[in-house]
Amino acid sequence: MAAPGALARGAVPGPPTRILDRRFAAQLVTAAEGLLERFGTPDAPGLLKSLRHEADEFPGLFREALRPEFSDAGMYVLRGLPVEDASLGPTPTGWSVAGDAGALWDVVLLLLAAAMGHPMGWRGQQNGRMVNNIVPAPGHENEQTGASSTVLLAPHTEDAFHPRRADLLLLCCMRNHEGVATTASSVRLTDLAPEDVDALSRPMAPILPDDAYTSSALPDEVHACAGTVSPQPVRTLWPTPDGLTIRFDPAYTRFDGTDAAYRAAYARLEAELSRVVRAVALEQGDVLVVDNDVVVHGRVPFRSRYDGTDRWLKRALVHVPHRRGRPESERAEHGYGQPVIDPYCDGT
Ligand SMILES: [Fe+2]
Repeated sequence: MAAPGALARGAVPGPPTRILDRRFAAQLVTAAEGLLERFGTPDAPGLLKSLRHEADEFPGLFREALRPEFSDAGMYVLRGLPVEDASLGPTPTGWSVAGDAGALWDVVLLLLAAAMGHPMGWRGQQNGRMVNNIVPAPGHENEQTGASSTVLLAPHTEDAFHPRRADLLLLCCMRNHEGVATTASSVRLTDLAPEDVDALSRPMAPILPDDAYTSSALPDEVHACAGTVSPQPVRTLWPTPDGLTIRFDPAYTRFDGTDAAYRAAYARLEAELSRVVRAVALEQGDVLVVDNDVVVHGRVPFRSRYDGTDRWLKRALVHVPHRRGRPESERAEHGYGQPVIDPYCDGT
């Protein structure tokens, strides 16, 4: 198979950029400060319940600027949040020691997520926090998770193993002084033969939970479930009226039960995703908004220093209610027992 994530140079322009009006940015920060003052922490149930009301108060023009509609690029950069080094504090050396570092921006990100849909999270990811810190961590440099640094983080769909994976992924840049690139490839910019699309639309290979789900506290019964359920083959691609859609995570995909035609088509898909990849070097205050059904994302390797100045992103996930297009068969999947947190739904 093609080396996943190999960067094609110069062929594809950067993602569309939407500039955040300064007044709206200031309004967001003021609303976030007010919520933090009232509730104390971004994960307080009262704060999560208040997000919808706060987001509904945003001016119509602001909501228009955030609308989760995309070109075939499947992503855009929202630019203009006033994140500053001086008030931010050092980059934490791992999510497990981050605590409430940069909590104001957690709330800002949750407000943006609430304006686009339902903010959601995972009980088994970063101890169930709604906004996750993506920072390099000592000892994890070579993993295929957000805690890595020295290896290329292979392109993937966020939480591809689960039928209730997010519709949208938000990556907010706290600090990225060296311009370490996030990689992003839209399946709608690829050029695949109809036979390859057909081959990859068959449920052939299971995708297992990634390593980030083994390091968080989960109830014993969930670990028991994850350890005993049978992996379920899933579709890699499926066509929709809006275009081609993808569910992809080669680092955690089991290919042992697949046939040669599927593997050859998968290799051609990987090559196409590499051909159309965009290297997005997020700047401080940028939010990359990604359609998780259209774009696979990763990261180029970099050298971490653990001196408080390393690259630091915050990640939020969004469920967009009534969005259509995923295969009906996904409804029967077990999701390896990983429970979703959705403050606006029943939490199952
Ligand atoms: Fe990811």
